[in-house]
Amino acid sequence: MQNQKIVIEGGVPLRGDIKIQGAKNSSLPIIAASLLCEGETVIKNCPRISDTYASCRILSHLGCRCNLSGNVLTVSADKKSSCSVSDELMSEMRSSIIYMGALLGSSGECCMTFPGGCELGPRPIDMHIDAMKKLGARVKDEYGIIECSAPHGLKGTKIILSYPSVGTTENIMLAAVKAEGETVISNAAMEPEITDLAEFLNKCGGRIKGAGTGKIVIDGVKKLYGCTYTVMPDRIAAATYISAAAATNGEINILGIDGLLCDSFISVFEQMGCYIYIYDDRVYVNAERPLRSVGKIITMPHPGFPTDAQAVIMAALCKARGSSIFVENIFESRYKQVDALVKMGANIKVSGKTAVVTGVKRLYGSKVSATDLRGGASMIVAGLGADGKTEISDIYHIDRGYENIENIISSLGGKIKRI
Ligand code: UD1
Repeated sequence: MQNQKIVIEGGVPLRGDIKIQGAKNSSLPIIAASLLCEGETVIKNCPRISDTYASCRILSHLGCRCNLSGNVLTVSADKKSSCSVSDELMSEMRSSIIYMGALLGSSGECCMTFPGGCELGPRPIDMHIDAMKKLGARVKDEYGIIECSAPHGLKGTKIILSYPSVGTTENIMLAAVKAEGETVISNAAMEPEITDLAEFLNKCGGRIKGAGTGKIVIDGVKKLYGCTYTVMPDRIAAATYISAAAATNGEINILGIDGLLCDSFISVFEQMGCYIYIYDDRVYVNAERPLRSVGKIITMPHPGFPTDAQAVIMAALCKARGSSIFVENIFESRYKQVDALVKMGANIKVSGKTAVVTGVKRLYGSKVSATDLRGGASMIVAGLGADGKTEISDIYHIDRGYENIENIISSLGGKIKRI
C-alpha cells in the first residue's frame, strides 16, 4: 500500500455525474460515539477510507464487534473490554483524540497517548484536556501517556471554549451526553458535522440542543441505545471534485449533496467564473469558461471558508487569470502542497499565513509526493489540469479521506490510475 502511486495524464475536461461519499469528519466521531450505545449501531453511508478502517481497529482493540459491509458499518459495544488505546492506534489517525470523550462517557476512564504527528503544524490537545477536567475527570499526563478517570462519574457543567474547536466540541458532546445534569458549551464549533453528531446521539436517546449554533446544551441521559443512522455527505470531497472540474474546464453534476452544505465555498467558485446551480440534492457545475482569480480567501471556523478546502481550491486557481490571496488562519503549516504545485509550474509565494497565487497559462505534469490529505488531493486537482503526466507518491495520505477517488475521476473521463 505504501508504495502505491496515482498517475494522471492531464488535460481532459471532466464531464458527467458522480455521487458524493459520506463525510469523513462526521463519520469518525459517529463511529466513536457508537461506544456509548447499548445494542447494535448501524452507520450507513460510511466512507470506505483508511481512517474508517483505523477507527474499526480501535473499536476492535477495545473489544467491540465491528463489521463494515459496503458502506454500512455495524458496531456492537456490548462486550467492550478495554479502555486503553495503544500508541500505534492513536498515531494512525489524528482524530483518535475523540476516543477520550467517548471512553470517558461510556466507561468513566481511558488511557491513551497523544494523537499522531504534526501534519499541519502543532495540533495541541490542551482544550480537550481542560474540558474533560471541567466535566470532573482526573487527567494525568506523564511521559506522553494520558490517563483519565472519573470515579464518581462526569458531571454537567458550563464550558466556555476559547476557540470554537471542532474536535473539542465533539469530545465534550461525547463525554457529556451521559453525564449527570446539564452541560452548556459556549463558543462551540458550528460545523455541519457537529450537527450530524448531535442528530446521531439524539437518535440514540441523547438530549442535545443547539448544535450548529455557538451554544450547545446537553442534558445528560442514563443510557443510549444503538440506532440506524445515515452519515451526511462530505462537503470537502464535493469541494475537491468541483475544484477538479474547474481545473479542467469541465462540467459535472454532484449527486447526493444538499447545496446548502457547500455555502461556505460555492461563492468562491462563482467568483472564479464557474456557473453553479443547486437543485434538490444536486450541485451542477459548469466551468467551461476560463477561470478568473478571486479576492481574498480567508480560512475561518464555520460558517467561514473551510481550511480543508483551501488546498484543492488553490490548485484550481493556479491557472486562473490574475492573482488570488489566501490567508490560512486555522493551522500553522497548511501550505505544504505549495512546493509540489510550484514544481508543476504554479506561481505561488508564501509568507507566514498568506499565500499569493498568480495564475499561469499552463501547469506541467511532474513527480510529486502527497504531503497530507488535502494537500495530496490538491496535487490530483493540479495534475488533472496540467499538461502531461503527473505521478503522485505517498498517496496513503489521500486514502485517509477519499473513497475511490481514482475511479470517480475516471468515471468523469479523467485519465487517472493507481499503480
Ligand atoms: C477538525 C477536522 C479537520 C479540520 C479542522 C478545522 C475532523 C476529524 N477534523 O480538526 O479536518 O481541518 O477541524 O475545521 O473533524 N486547538 C488548540 N488546542 C486544542 C484543540 C485545537 O489550540 O486543544 C487549535 C488547533 O491547533 C487549530 C484550531 O484550534 O489551530 C482548530 O482546531 P480544531 O477545530 O480542534 O480542529 P480539529 O478538530 O483537529
